[in-house]
Amino acid sequence: MNRRDWIKATALTTSGLLLNDYLLANKLFQQPLALGFSKGDFGNDFKWGIAQASYQTEGAWNIDGKGESVWDHFSHTKGKIENGDTGDLATDFYHKYKSDIQLVKDMNFGIFRFSLSWSRIFPKGTGKINPLGVQYYHNVIDECIALGIEPWVTIFHWDTPQTLEEQGGWTNRKMVDWFSEYTEFVTKEYGNKVKNWMIINEPLSYTGMGYMFGEMAPGKKGLKNFKAAAHHSVLCQAEGGRIVRKNVPGANIGTTFQLSWIDPIDDSQKNIAAAKRMDAIYNRLFIEPSLGLGYPEDGLPYLKTMKKLYAAGDEKMMEFDFDFIGAQYYYRTVAKKSMMPGLKAKEISPKKRGVAMNEMDGEIYPEGFYQILKQIGNYEKVKKIIVTENGTCVKDTVVGGKVHDKERIKYFKDHLAAMLKAKKEGVNIDGYFVWSLTDNFEWDKGFRPRFGLVHVDFKTLNRTVKDSGYWFKEFLK
Ligand code: BGC
Repeated sequence: MNRRDWIKATALTTSGLLLNDYLLANKLFQQPLALGFSKGDFGNDFKWGIAQASYQTEGAWNIDGKGESVWDHFSHTKGKIENGDTGDLATDFYHKYKSDIQLVKDMNFGIFRFSLSWSRIFPKGTGKINPLGVQYYHNVIDECIALGIEPWVTIFHWDTPQTLEEQGGWTNRKMVDWFSEYTEFVTKEYGNKVKNWMIINEPLSYTGMGYMFGEMAPGKKGLKNFKAAAHHSVLCQAEGGRIVRKNVPGANIGTTFQLSWIDPIDDSQKNIAAAKRMDAIYNRLFIEPSLGLGYPEDGLPYLKTMKKLYAAGDEKMMEFDFDFIGAQYYYRTVAKKSMMPGLKAKEISPKKRGVAMNEMDGEIYPEGFYQILKQIGNYEKVKKIIVTENGTCVKDTVVGGKVHDKERIKYFKDHLAAMLKAKKEGVNIDGYFVWSLTDNFEWDKGFRPRFGLVHVDFKTLNRTVKDSGYWFKEFLK
């Protein structure tokens, strides 16, 4: 497209600026993406999306019949969240979904990934349904479809109904029945409109941070809780897959994993072994049972104790033939031997190592993205990978109606290049979703870390598209 056509084609942005003027003024357009690659290099069918999650954005925590979730409960407990922040209002996506989905379209993304709030649909987790909650997700889905955006739905992104938590939550094996009831309902309800489903978001995050270290909801601690929560998550992710397959003809089914490339701090045998054990927990614990490989005992012999949790038939029940694996990558981890129970390894923080970090002290390391994609691509039974989250948090400020987030643009350029390298070497990567559409509630860190391509002023709830948002618009056009 020549410049004149492009100018004609560009629409008014939500902040009222002419986008092309903005890009020219900020030199984002004049230098045509000096990248060495373009969208076309990823293939014509490559999927480009942008993601968010219910508790982090919706707000409306007790509106229209919604029940309490573990995150409502946890964030209302003093001292749990930085700055005393809560997701009570979050970005108010509950009321602003129309204009936010318009932003997805404005930035030229074809896919919007979001999650359902379980307790908005089943206020008590099971049993009675909340019709207003059910209708709300119809509205969101319909809005996507009306704008030509494909809705990709995550069934569970950490906001367990509080009533279920009071019965043990993920540590209770009954979770398999509760989760199945919920999944049966949502797939029957929305399955004629939604074909792309992700069962669970990052089981390691809520089982590790929520049941082992107590830093996230529900704030429980200990190996025993962690192991039970992990095993039941593994069962639910496979069982959920089977339910979607049964209820949604032609469904594309995945589930997502947090991944981190692990390097040892040095070349000593003891630290190489520590990195291997850490890899078993970080990158293998949840994916391998779904592939029929069981828990990765070869990487971490301690995992043999997981068998104590098995009921008859579990080995088979943990398996499901996913259409895609959702890979989520943010940072690399460097490991060293330690006395930590079970794992006997610890992380050496990026701060100590003096390397480039994001606002949450995660190391910025695009090479690790390439490496971990290769690692996941090596599993024979993984059919396809979709990067369902990747992004970074930057200290963004609005100056004169603009957010010049150069660091984030660099992060994306480098990570897209790393992904393309893996793809060119034969890893079957089929899509890439940015985390996140807007700045939002970053769990125990509250509103401080900003991950959005769109800035949110949490006092006024005003949205401002960041330079990185304009960058994607141009890249994806
Ligand atoms: C989670 C998101 C979170 C993001 C950034 C991922 O682990 O799925 O909910 O906001 O990382 O920390």
